[in-house]
Amino acid sequence: LNILSVTSECVPLIKTGGLADVAGALPKAMVPLGHRMRVLMPAYPGLVARLKGPVELWQDEALFGGPARVLGGKVDGVEFLLLEAAHLFDRKGGPYLTPEGHDWPDNPERFAALSWAAARIAQNGLSDGWVPEILHAHDWQAGLAPAYLRFIGDRRVKTLMTIHNIAFQGLAPADRLASLRLPFTAFNADDLEYYGQISTLKAGLVHADAISTVSPTYAAELMRPEFGMGLEGLIATRAGDLHGILNGIDLEVWNPQAGPHPYSAKTLTKKAVATAALRDRFGLAETDGPLAIVVSRLTGQKGLDLLPGLLPEFIAHGGTLALLGSGDAGLEAAYTGLAKEYPGKIGVHIGYDEDLSQLMFAGGDAVLIPSRFEPCGLTQLYGLRFGTLPVVAATGGLADTVIHANDAALDAGVATGLTFHPTDATAFSHSLRRLCTLFADRKLWQQMMRNAMRQPVGWENSSARYAAIYQDLLG
Ligand code: ADP
Ligand code: GLC
Repeated sequence: LNILSVTSECVPLIKTGGLADVAGALPKAMVPLGHRMRVLMPAYPGLVARLKGPVELWQDEALFGGPARVLGGKVDGVEFLLLEAAHLFDRKGGPYLTPEGHDWPDNPERFAALSWAAARIAQNGLSDGWVPEILHAHDWQAGLAPAYLRFIGDRRVKTLMTIHNIAFQGLAPADRLASLRLPFTAFNADDLEYYGQISTLKAGLVHADAISTVSPTYAAELMRPEFGMGLEGLIATRAGDLHGILNGIDLEVWNPQAGPHPYSAKTLTKKAVATAALRDRFGLAETDGPLAIVVSRLTGQKGLDLLPGLLPEFIAHGGTLALLGSGDAGLEAAYTGLAKEYPGKIGVHIGYDEDLSQLMFAGGDAVLIPSRFEPCGLTQLYGLRFGTLPVVAATGGLADTVIHANDAALDAGVATGLTFHPTDATAFSHSLRRLCTLFADRKLWQQMMRNAMRQPVGWENSSARYAAIYQDLLG
């Protein structure tokens, strides 16, 4: 099959979150299944220069206010189609934000342009003769692509809309309908209108042939008001077309045997070398308790406002913490303050650092993920792979991937971490106490580490499920 994947970020070129990891992993996972997936993404500054032998494959003289073209080429085995449109994408700042951290005011038009180009390419193909059969749209940034195909009247190309995070709905004021090239007739509650505004995500959910999200539990949660953010009714009406498919991780990049301090399930004691290196890096003292890590965006979704209040007790039980993250200014300040208050017990790096995160997963004993909602989550999967046992809120993909150490699971010898519910300080603090108790039982703990490291967290299962959906759509 020929599949056009449409996304606003994709590793190895640009990443702000897990979406980029997933968008970059899927095309590689399709190759052994005999499918060809090409990734259409905006040409943010400097990206075209990274394509090997770029070839012009598509143009449009007037794409939302200026000329545009698509340049194709490979980077690290991923086939990119970069949409070059200087008036929309050649700017300093991030993919969504100005250098000052505000949304670009023309974000609706910028990603409508991406979606428009996607729909046109899906319909007519590229100048090298490649014609996609499937358009796979990721999140609100690509939500208009399935809608444009419907409005154009194309039914040949089949579309899949994947929700990575429903908190972002691609809202625009109603008076932008014309500038987004949308028909006025579509502005109603059964179509792309969302409480008086345009929602590009809703457009995708209404018009795509199938919908998926990144874990089975989140798929079920999305049909409930607590999680659906106003779209639960629509999603429930499409339950028959809704699939929950877990994300995988790149087993070569996240590999405990590959780093500077290698170890495996058979040589668990060697993990201590990585732990010592991690302590050094964060200036942490050696204690009897677990060294917990956090690698995360610091936002309300992630529940990390619950942790500061629980740390004094965790430290009293012998725990230490290494945190890497950035985001909410108040949370950054809170953690920086705690690191000063508890030297040797709490170490904090504010920022984004992939190499440091590798060291943290290699050296940590446990990874803390108290999310309020989590469509899938990738860091618990890194934790499993490294025997850095996940302590997670039982929600979304976290609930689907971590086997809670209750008595039944411990007796059966299958536990891989701790889950707690609901996401509040009481449940989380109970889990942290349990973490300290379990950790003290070295034999049991090492058994759990081995269980975790054996759990399959790559892409084999999930890529086959995506491929099955594509095939089904084509009948
Ligand atoms: P989300 O996409 O909601 O942020 P995920 O768990 O799916 O959550 O993906 C987050 C990705 O970003 C993971 O690969 C994680 O390791 C990475 N990440 C988040 N914060 C940082 C950071 N400060 N430094 C390095 N990597 C980070
Ligand atoms: C979103 C979600 C995260 C998920 C990622 C990739 O960013 O917040 O849970 O893992 O998308 O699908």
